[in-house]
Amino acid sequence: MPEADVSKKDKCYQENVPQQTPGFFLKGCGSLDWGMKNRMAQVFNPKSGRTVMLAVDHGYFQGPTTGLERIDLSIVPLLPYCDALFCTRGILRSVIPPESQLPVVLRASGGPSILKELSNEEIAMDMEDAGRLNAAGVGIQVFVGGEFETRSIHNMTKLVDAGLRHGVPVMGVTAVGKDLVRDAKYFRLACRMIAELGATYVKTYYVEDGFETVTASCPVPIVMAGGKKLPELDALTMAYNAVQQGAAGVDMGRNIFQSDAPTAMIQAVNQVIHANMKPKDALDLYKTLKHGKA
Ligand code: R5P
Repeated sequence: MPEADVSKKDKCYQENVPQQTPGFFLKGCGSLDWGMKNRMAQVFNPKSGRTVMLAVDHGYFQGPTTGLERIDLSIVPLLPYCDALFCTRGILRSVIPPESQLPVVLRASGGPSILKELSNEEIAMDMEDAGRLNAAGVGIQVFVGGEFETRSIHNMTKLVDAGLRHGVPVMGVTAVGKDLVRDAKYFRLACRMIAELGATYVKTYYVEDGFETVTASCPVPIVMAGGKKLPELDALTMAYNAVQQGAAGVDMGRNIFQSDAPTAMIQAVNQVIHANMKPKDALDLYKTLKHGKA
């Protein structure tokens, strides 16, 4: 019978010792096949090793989210400023111009709306369709500790198997249930489980205390989800801290598209992620771009 980890010994994450990355620029990806590596290199910039993904998939469970009422008007103009778009196949086919050269990561889970139990998800697209749509990856929610925890884990492992057959990376997303504490201990558990069960990379939330232990104990790249809308300086600071503490970029939504000036905000985030721009300097850049002075 497996036992809980009750050792009294302190855990040793060695967060100051980066994981070696033989065979590829992203950690934990050296043994992937060529097609998988190529798709990862479309999403993550090989020069910085990081990505600015723009998350606009919120409608898959909550309908026309504020800022996403008209993706054709609010999001299409932002596409030149991100490294990849995270969206549903419905939005991709109906709104995103196929002439776009931007890599796309497709939301591949769904089912319940905000009116029901969110962890009761299923896989919501075939991997064949991801190939048909030329996707650079797929993303799926994993509800560790949620009511339908095992189902959501199996959704992910089935998607991972399909992704391996087709050379399509899978991003496992830590979805936090209403009653779960969002702390480093929880995210270490969730991110590590997602990586061990085969996800190519993991999307998770930032925590002030101990985020570097979340990234250090996860053997594959982590991208930070933005979460609810914050003042611009706070969002830029969170993104800065996340990458300084080991994240390989962000997959941000509301803190970009709900900003007063989304085009300025996404460019400021880009500088924080790819050029290590300090948050206050990035805020100045945001204000300059917002007022059209650049
Ligand atoms: C993930 O579960 C959501 O569908 C979004 O992709 C994610 O929350 C990122 O968006 P935001 O930065 O708005 O939290």
